[in-house]
Amino acid sequence: MSESIVHFEDVRKTYQMGVVTVEALRGVTLAIQAGEYVSIMGPSGCGKSTMLNLLGCLDRPTSGRYALGGEDVSQLDDDALSAIRGARLGFIFQSYNLIQQLTVVENIEVPLYYQGGSEEESRTLAARYAERVGLGHRLDHKPFELSGGQQQRVAIARALVNDPLVLLADEPTGNLDSASGVEILRIFDDLNQQGKTIASSRPRNRRCPTRAIKASFCNTG
Ligand SMILES: Nc1ncnc2c1ncn2[C@@H]1O[C@H](COP(=O)(O)OP(=O)(O)OP(=O)(O)O)[C@@H](O)[C@H]1O
Ligand SMILES: [Mg+2]
Repeated sequence: MSESIVHFEDVRKTYQMGVVTVEALRGVTLAIQAGEYVSIMGPSGCGKSTMLNLLGCLDRPTSGRYALGGEDVSQLDDDALSAIRGARLGFIFQSYNLIQQLTVVENIEVPLYYQGGSEEESRTLAARYAERVGLGHRLDHKPFELSGGQQQRVAIARALVNDPLVLLADEPTGNLDSASGVEILRIFDDLNQQGKTIASSRPRNRRCPTRAIKASFCNTG
């Protein structure tokens, strides 16, 4: 029997903009099992990024419950949330968010700084993940020397290096041409086939060859 990695129960998120209250999520209930690949789909403004930010512990729900790997993380303070992010989650952003001054291998190593391994172990592991996304020959390059697709592959390696419970991605192909986008989605497919749990957003009408097995439609705002 599969274990539930993510469990959202009636999760709501509202933003207060002066006197206006924006209801970004109006009560989402969702379970993601180990090994599943979930696509979060829906039109612009429906709450995909809001949902991924909550899943990624970048933000807290206004109400409702979020259990990650069996632990209630709904109301943890900022320090506790960042510890969870570092140890249990990998996040991939549309705009890669690499550190421009660092090389490929150094960028991939960043999450390991906080995990207490030796420098040598961290470097070896980061190089192995660079290899895994096809960038073993680019370890010492800086992000500006790479194409968008290559930068996103560095971001994937960085998100994987801590062996996260779940890999989260917010429109990971949004800034890429279609060939590079297909390549990124193929990496996701491979990772999922190797057992990685993935939740990723994409626009409703985008055709792409993911093996997404469950779609969760957000509330339209
Ligand atoms: N920080 C914020 N403050 C106020 N309102 C916000 C904030 N973030 C999001 N919203 C609002 O919440 C709703 C959901 O936004 P969200 O960014 O999650 O949508 P999305 O589905 O990711 O859209 P897109 O496909 O354009 O990326 C929108 O109405 C948006 O304006
Ligand atoms: Mg978004």
